[in-house]
Amino acid sequence: MIKALFPGSFDPVTNGHMSIIKRTAGLFDILYVAVMVNPAKKYLFSPEERLNMLKECCKDISNVKVISFDGLLVNLAKKMDVGVIIKGVRNSSDFESEFQQAQANSMLLQGVETFLMPSSPKDIAISSTLVKQIALFGGDITPFVPKIVAEKLQKNK
Ligand code: PNS
Repeated sequence: MIKALFPGSFDPVTNGHMSIIKRTAGLFDILYVAVMVNPAKKYLFSPEERLNMLKECCKDISNVKVISFDGLLVNLAKKMDVGVIIKGVRNSSDFESEFQQAQANSMLLQGVETFLMPSSPKDIAISSTLVKQIALFGGDITPFVPKIVAEKLQKNK
């Protein structure tokens, strides 16, 4: 059985994340999607809110399991016994950062490989940060996020 792990902040989950999840889920027996903590970020939604939104968005993808973890990514990879970490990449700055993290993670845990997945062209401009800003100023976020996330963001304004 080949298991993979797609970690992220998901504050909130966007259509870009969902595209990576759907395209990747078909390649593995189990795909764990993990709500995690990036110490460099300030979050709008609590870990529980982020987890619940993701669970709702992934409920129809049978081999996706949504989990949360507060700690090092390699420790979660070890705990779930996965050999592959998936990261989405939109542009060269994502690539630089993900490449660096992949090197660090491979030094921290031998045998774990990071697969960098290019975003679909339609998703290149989407980020959780931009979506939150558009929502804050009353813009239309429905092209960028799943319906339940759009509803939650409107309420949270
Ligand atoms: O969606 P994000 O914010 O780009 O996700 C980044 C995340 C959460 C995957 C990354 O910050 C992470 O792996 N956090 C867990 C702590 C960790 O292992 N840090 C070292 C990475 S080399």
